[in-house]
Amino acid sequence: MRVRTTLSLLVLFSGVGSSCPQATVDPPHPDATDHLIFNSVLALLERWPNTLYRNGHTIVPATIPPGTLLYHGSPYPALPTNREWLAFDFEHAYLFTFATDAPGAAYVTTYATSRALRVAYFDGSSAAKLDDGPMDTQDILLWGEGRPDMYRKDIERLAELCKWAREYGVDGFVRMEYHFEFMLCDFTDGLDVVSTRRLLPRDPYPLPPNGRGRPRTDTSSDAAQHAFTASSAAAREETPQEPRPIPRPEGWKGSLPSASMTYFEAIVAAARHNRAPGETRVRPDYAGLITFYDRAFESLVEVRRGVPRLRHRVANISSADASRAHAEIAQVFRRAPGGGSGVNWGSVARGVVDTYAERLDLLRFLVDPTRSMYRNVTERAGVVRAQLLTMLTAYISLEDVPSLDRDTDAGDRVWAAPIVARCAESQTAHFLLDTMTPQERRIRDAVQGTQTEICRRLGTMWLDAFDIQVWTDEDKISKALGRWRREVGELMAWLGWPEWVRCEPACGVGSMCYVATWPFWLGDDPTDLSPRCISRSDPFGMNEGSLAVVD
Ligand SMILES: *[C@@H]1O[C@H](CO)[C@@H](O)[C@H](O)[C@H]1NC(C)=O
Ligand SMILES: *[C@@H]1O[C@H](CO)[C@@H](O)[C@H](O)[C@H]1NC(C)=O
Repeated sequence: MRVRTTLSLLVLFSGVGSSCPQATVDPPHPDATDHLIFNSVLALLERWPNTLYRNGHTIVPATIPPGTLLYHGSPYPALPTNREWLAFDFEHAYLFTFATDAPGAAYVTTYATSRALRVAYFDGSSAAKLDDGPMDTQDILLWGEGRPDMYRKDIERLAELCKWAREYGVDGFVRMEYHFEFMLCDFTDGLDVVSTRRLLPRDPYPLPPNGRGRPRTDTSSDAAQHAFTASSAAAREETPQEPRPIPRPEGWKGSLPSASMTYFEAIVAAARHNRAPGETRVRPDYAGLITFYDRAFESLVEVRRGVPRLRHRVANISSADASRAHAEIAQVFRRAPGGGSGVNWGSVARGVVDTYAERLDLLRFLVDPTRSMYRNVTERAGVVRAQLLTMLTAYISLEDVPSLDRDTDAGDRVWAAPIVARCAESQTAHFLLDTMTPQERRIRDAVQGTQTEICRRLGTMWLDAFDIQVWTDEDKISKALGRWRREVGELMAWLGWPEWVRCEPACGVGSMCYVATWPFWLGDDPTDLSPRCISRSDPFGMNEGSLAVVD
């Protein structure tokens, strides 16, 4: 027998119409995580949201399909034979071709996957060498506890991860810093070499400088063979601005690619994966999505209370909950891929965001009294009402009006309840639970919880808006507009969609919208993630001592 998902609401409202029982939807519990799980599902493999919310809470099995091009940069011609890092874009790999002990040599090898590679993806900025949370999910997977001593020891970490991978038939790991990276455990299995080219050496200078308003490079990373090898070696030089000759190709005239532009082009390549559909060369298997926002991990509930999402720490998990997580991780990664319902949960979440992100933004604009494009509150209220009606039209039946004898002051809210109920279950009621993995049911619940809260807030506003055009008391209308402002503001804050974090006004052609990512802090405060327009011609503010930021 197939079990259909039904909201308890629907049972309550089964007698739609005058016999409707007195029930409305409750606001989400203060500890609710539906919106957080929803956000994670929505944003997998998108750079922008995973930069804003860098302490990832998700581990998900994923596939890199056959025929996917990957890049490896090195100052040495020898190819890796064991475990190493790969880049998804050439620009990212090219960055790693410089070393002080091999100046003038730059090799980039292009590989193609020869079969589907099975990987584990850690969301958030899981490759950022920061000790305040981005690596927590890896720590829990490996050691069952946070390991602040390990956050810079990426070589050791990769060795440990690959030990784990062998046990589960996993080929490697996908993480993100300012770009996505792929850590492959065995270069001899699953890759074909497409080409190895000795390319133009990149100039080691001018290096992006450290300091305020400037990107910073990690000068003390002990991840010797990885990522910032080249940059850290160069950054240790006392006078990075001092041009030093590097061997140039014979007959070459003019500049070589400069260090700062090479860095910046890697950032630019990364930014191409900012928003949906994100880094599409990795396909997440939603049916195996493990999230530490599951409230079953009770030890994390209290430590999150009142703490902004940027500072949520998976490392606060109790050992009992970590054991539970381990059991779930083992269960998921032992399962054959491709199980579950086949529902594309990313697309389901995206559908909700596509439907409401822009409209809520518009609603916020319309109720904002500082945007005075209306002659009076009556006119403004009418426009807001029209927008609310647009957002609810799909759910309003002919019966959904207050009864004529209603006593408005008695707070009769029940007449709008069926509208809210239909809206709340619109995205999820059709799903068949019995085909879903436990992980999918959790996502289903998160989508439903998120959609429900959107509908509850819209319904609350509609209670006022329904007959506001016949109100004559301007003061009363103003108060309703104030309530709507609060409703929209609280809803958008709760949802926390990355769509609403952007450069305003939008950056011009000569610049790029950017938020700080490790190791490029464009400012002194690592928690300052306000988006800024960065000059494309002088991204690091190295010309004439100007700042990189062009506001
Ligand atoms: C959470 O973990 C962090 C890092 O381990 C620690 O600094 C903090 O005190 C913990 N918070 C609680 C409430 O245990
Ligand atoms: C508000 O503006 C509308 C025009 O948009 C006008 O018809 C109406 O009379 C005005 N109401 C008041 C109270 O001034």
